[in-house]
Amino acid sequence: MVPELEKVTVLMKNPEHVQRVISALRKEGTDKLQVISDFDMTLSRFGFNGRRCPTSHNILDNSRVISEEGRKKLKDLLQYYYPIEIDPNQTMEEKRPLMVEWWTKAHNLLLEQKILKSDIAKIVRESEVMLRDGANTFFDQLHQHNIPLFIFSAGVGDVLEEVLRQAEVFHPNINVVANYMDFDDKGVLRRFKEPLIHTYNKNNTVLEKTEHFQLLSSRTNIILLGDSLGDLSMADGVPNVENVLTVGFLNDKVDERRGKYRDAYDIVLEKDETLDVVNGILCYILGDLN
Ligand code: TMP
Ligand code: MG
Repeated sequence: MVPELEKVTVLMKNPEHVQRVISALRKEGTDKLQVISDFDMTLSRFGFNGRRCPTSHNILDNSRVISEEGRKKLKDLLQYYYPIEIDPNQTMEEKRPLMVEWWTKAHNLLLEQKILKSDIAKIVRESEVMLRDGANTFFDQLHQHNIPLFIFSAGVGDVLEEVLRQAEVFHPNINVVANYMDFDDKGVLRRFKEPLIHTYNKNNTVLEKTEHFQLLSSRTNIILLGDSLGDLSMADGVPNVENVLTVGFLNDKVDERRGKYRDAYDIVLEKDETLDVVNGILCYILGDLN
């Protein structure tokens, strides 16, 4: 049905369930389908040639507009909080206040740097960010078939939009909810807009303030893409959900986290830097329409 599911990177706890959901998504057609996806380390690459690729926050942190001291402090935060973010031995409840702490401290440091709106495009262009292999096919297929793509990110909205724009894939079927910057009338960053989104509050507590789900209430079939266990609640606010297929990228601490990911996601992709499997599933669902 989907040859890409034979890739060695694919892990499925219940392959029959996966087949059933994919068949239902194909049968019910594109009018009922939406894709909900995380951004950093899901649509963007985790690594390339043995080096880590930046998240949307890291794109700013590593840029030349940040002072040496600011960069060091942001790096220290990353080194302290990232292991907590991905620790398989702490619950989401335990992690939640610590993530609020990380995001708040990081945003405050970024505010000190007087970042200019007009610098964002250059900062992104000079960064090492990369979308996963196959991203063009992914974005173009969804656009051609008018399938809404909802990107729900705890990253920086202005930065991730610019990444998509520069890759020429920021099509009108895309809707983003993320941490957006607010600039003063001189174009200087003055605050981050509310509500603060971090890895473990991607759910309706954030989304009830957006119009997104009302607009898409007829899209009751969902493909959900993420790389964190926190991403699994991204579809919680969608009313009357019929079929959901969840795909999780397991990028880091693979051995320690394999069990939890296999239990939580329908399809786990281990150290797979491509969107091949997702594209294969979409290709099958779109079938003769392609
Ligand atoms: P995502 O929801 O699009 O994946 O974005 C959130 C990621 O951003 C999360 O995995 C942690 C990362 N992050 C940084 O790299 N640096 C930071 O300063 C913060 C606050 C988060
Ligand atoms: Mg992510």
